[in-house]
Amino acid sequence: MNIWITKTPADIFIASEHTQLKKNLTALDLASLGIGAVVGTGIFVATGQGAQLAGPGIILSFIVAAITCGFCALTYSELACMFPVAGSTYSYTYVAFGEVIAWIIGWDLMFEYLVAASAVASGWSSTFAGLIQGAGVTLPKALLTSPLQGGIIDLPAVVITLLITWILFIGIRESAKVNNIIVVLKILVILLFVFLGIRHINLSNLKPFMPYGWKGVMAGAAIIFFAYIGFDSISTAAEETKNPKRDIPLGLMLCLGVVILLYVGTAFVLTSIVPYKEIDVNNALPSALGRIGIRWGGALVATGAIVGMISTILVTLYGQIRIFMVMARDGLLPAPFAKVHPRHMTPHICTWITGIATALIAGIFPISKTIDLCNMGTLFAFVVVSIGVIVLRKTRPEVERRFRVPGVPFTPLITIAFCFYLMYSLPGVTWIQFGIWLLVGVGIYFLYGVRHSKLQLKAKS
Ligand code: ALA
Repeated sequence: MNIWITKTPADIFIASEHTQLKKNLTALDLASLGIGAVVGTGIFVATGQGAQLAGPGIILSFIVAAITCGFCALTYSELACMFPVAGSTYSYTYVAFGEVIAWIIGWDLMFEYLVAASAVASGWSSTFAGLIQGAGVTLPKALLTSPLQGGIIDLPAVVITLLITWILFIGIRESAKVNNIIVVLKILVILLFVFLGIRHINLSNLKPFMPYGWKGVMAGAAIIFFAYIGFDSISTAAEETKNPKRDIPLGLMLCLGVVILLYVGTAFVLTSIVPYKEIDVNNALPSALGRIGIRWGGALVATGAIVGMISTILVTLYGQIRIFMVMARDGLLPAPFAKVHPRHMTPHICTWITGIATALIAGIFPISKTIDLCNMGTLFAFVVVSIGVIVLRKTRPEVERRFRVPGVPFTPLITIAFCFYLMYSLPGVTWIQFGIWLLVGVGIYFLYGVRHSKLQLKAKS
């Protein structure tokens, strides 16, 4: 067995040949797709958690995280345009580094998506609970709180995850039209927050601006990175794009540009209207409006947020299921996982496994934990992507790159430096937990994957 066995670009294209998609997306469509996947729990809820670490300096944290994302997005786009197929980073790694690293990345991505969907579900739950509490319905605290924080379970997070899993099981996917409506809604409620808050700004709340220094700002950035996760969905639509060379970088820049303006504006208003220590970490934006006496505004923002977060959970679970399927198709996971339901025509087994695992994680772990873990997994994947860009320029110079990152190897190296710095700013326990997950993954590969891999079997015969 050769654990470093690589796929050729042709292998990847053959696997995806039967999914020839229409090429009709423009830069604007891509930007909308990106904003739909990106704006969610991060801005509506995690801003409060980041502000506890950075103080009003969270505004700078948003900028540092955005610069990191900009670099990641650029490097990611080169690979996405080289191999515009499903499976994203996992598929690129199979070509660049070989099977064992592809497995590790696939395993890492499963982790990232699982905890990302759980974190958004937890954020949905606390926003939902805040909203109905405003209407006089109070849920028991024990049913809203993780057992690790003295509660029983975060029940609304479990329920919403299972509901969305069922939607995916019966095969409803968000259409571009629905996505566009939700994107407009999310942008409107954030603008509403800024507009309502701006008249209540008290600049003395911004002093001291960086109570925990740069270390605090970077710890804030390491959390708030979560608010930008999802922009890679733009690159995964490379296959359906009219002119990837122009539209992908343009779509990415447009998406990130809009998101940065919204986020920095929101962080500024939030930390100016409420002293950072008093921001509600479970329901940051709506409760801040409530605190300055605009309860109806808080309710509207919360309503927009919970609708918007549903679409984020849907897209994230869908991405996870797709990776699951591609890995099962390659023989690295048991084949029944990729089985398609005869009536609904969806991969029902991996849909339910994914949904139930996500629901359990969301019900048991506090959001602060899942966000840290998600960011660790995502940053790790971007480090591998950046190395992949440099390696493939040397080993596969012949493959057409419809988008080339300028300044290789420096741009990917800068990306790696930014990612490492944010990873370094995450708590030590997150490194340990992530390391254990990777070790378990390597174990599974040697016990199962390497023996059932279709590529290995093909090479032997
Ligand atoms: N960026 C996504 C969110 O904030 C994951 O919900």
